[in-house]
Amino acid sequence: MRQAPELAQPATGDHQRVIAIDGPAAAGKSTVARLLADRLGALLFDTGALYRAVALAALRSGKSPDDEQSLFCIASVAQISVRPPSLQDGRLYDVWLNGEDVTWSVRDPEVGAIVSRVAEHPAVRAALLPLQRTIASGGPVVMVGRDIGTVVVPDAGLKVYLDATPEERARRRFREAAARGSHQSFEAVLRETLHRDAIDSGRDTAPLRPALDAVLIDTDGVPIEQIVAKIEAIARAERNESGDPLWPS
Ligand code: CDP
Repeated sequence: MRQAPELAQPATGDHQRVIAIDGPAAAGKSTVARLLADRLGALLFDTGALYRAVALAALRSGKSPDDEQSLFCIASVAQISVRPPSLQDGRLYDVWLNGEDVTWSVRDPEVGAIVSRVAEHPAVRAALLPLQRTIASGGPVVMVGRDIGTVVVPDAGLKVYLDATPEERARRRFREAAARGSHQSFEAVLRETLHRDAIDSGRDTAPLRPALDAVLIDTDGVPIEQIVAKIEAIARAERNESGDPLWPS
């Protein structure tokens, strides 16, 4: 299928108060972003939830993750929203799909097993792009994903790329899943993490990679608090054209 034109066009609007956080699976992006957004008074928008919601809808309607046309239809008509958390059950945000709270369903291993194949399709990415760009233009936001700094909001005021070794990332994901009652083995979690990384980094459209001007942070063994403090300090030091802080304390 041809590449949709939106992917080639730049985002419009003032994105000085957009913080883009990209990186591979379980690099700590969402947790860091939640804390950072709360401190800065910004919205948190985790774009992975959009791809997971499309993957969940595809599973439910029996569509193959290779069926780009059907997935494009799903991504185009599905009502997906990512909102502040409505329950205190460990969630960092709510994910809604066609009027249903699917916050935990989108984290099911079945969804994790196919989401990167769903996200590989240019048509799916193009269908999910306008919503992401609308959010980026709407105000202070911390946006999390794989291609935020490179494709979705290349002129974001601050771009961060979080990374960690695959073993460390799989350990984190394994602990999170076990706490939710999952029986997936560590080896299975590691395999899936590596598999998703390979697809996300190897795809032709919007592959996972740091933007040239991203701040690279290795999160291996670094406490979350320290990572958040580092990014917050960089954000607080930023100024607009008039010299005023972009993120005043
Ligand atoms: O939370 P985790 O790091 O496991 O993944 P996620 O952020 O929920 O993203 C799930 C999948 O969606 C990724 O593995 C990518 O395949 C895809 N994704 C993407 O392609 N582009 C984004 N901006 C965000 C996610």
